[in-house]
Amino acid sequence: MILRDMSEADLDVVLRIEREVHAHPWTAGNFSDALRSKYLCKVYESETDGMVGYAILMLAVDEAELLDIAIAAGQQRHGWGRKLLEEMMALARRQNMQRMVLEVRASNAAAIALYRKAGFSDIGLRRDYYPAENGREDAILMGRDL
Ligand SMILES: CC(C)(COP(=O)(O)OP(=O)(O)OC[C@H]1O[C@@H](n2cnc3c(N)ncnc32)[C@H](O)[C@@H]1OP(=O)(O)O)[C@@H](O)C(=O)NCCC(=O)NCCS
Repeated sequence: MILRDMSEADLDVVLRIEREVHAHPWTAGNFSDALRSKYLCKVYESETDGMVGYAILMLAVDEAELLDIAIAAGQQRHGWGRKLLEEMMALARRQNMQRMVLEVRASNAAAIALYRKAGFSDIGLRRDYYPAENGREDAILMGRDL
């Protein structure tokens, strides 16, 4: 597996994965903005299967915020999400970040389990933060020291 920088040329594949795994996917514009903003936008790739997933990290002073992480539907539950998250934590450490934080939908049991396993704990709740199928949904804020 390799972790490499995401570029505009990756966005077709990134968007295909994003739309297949997220009920409320980022748009092409969101990804282009992330690339232009110099966030850490990384693609996780296997020699045989191509792009397995990707992740986007925003660095602010000494805190890294994980804005997006996804593993292609056919590649989930093989440990790639955990490994990609660890790679992003290692990258953040190398940039002298002291903490990593993120927001996750309260209904996203898979992601919450992944984050807990990776040492994140709940640090807050934003009520009715996300648009959802029927109204709004809470965001759970999670974080861990690096
Ligand atoms: C969350 C996500 C990245 C996990 O990727 P993954 O490669 O399937 O995860 P892993 O195989 O590394 O699993 C690591 C741990 O996460 C948890 N987990 C992952 N998928 C799970 C699921 N469907 N249900 C419950 N727990 C799950 C488990 O604790 C798992 O450990 P285990 O396999 O030892 O039980 C993936 O489900 C995904 O892309 N989801 C859609 C996008 C998304 O929701 N991103 C997060 C936005 S905040």
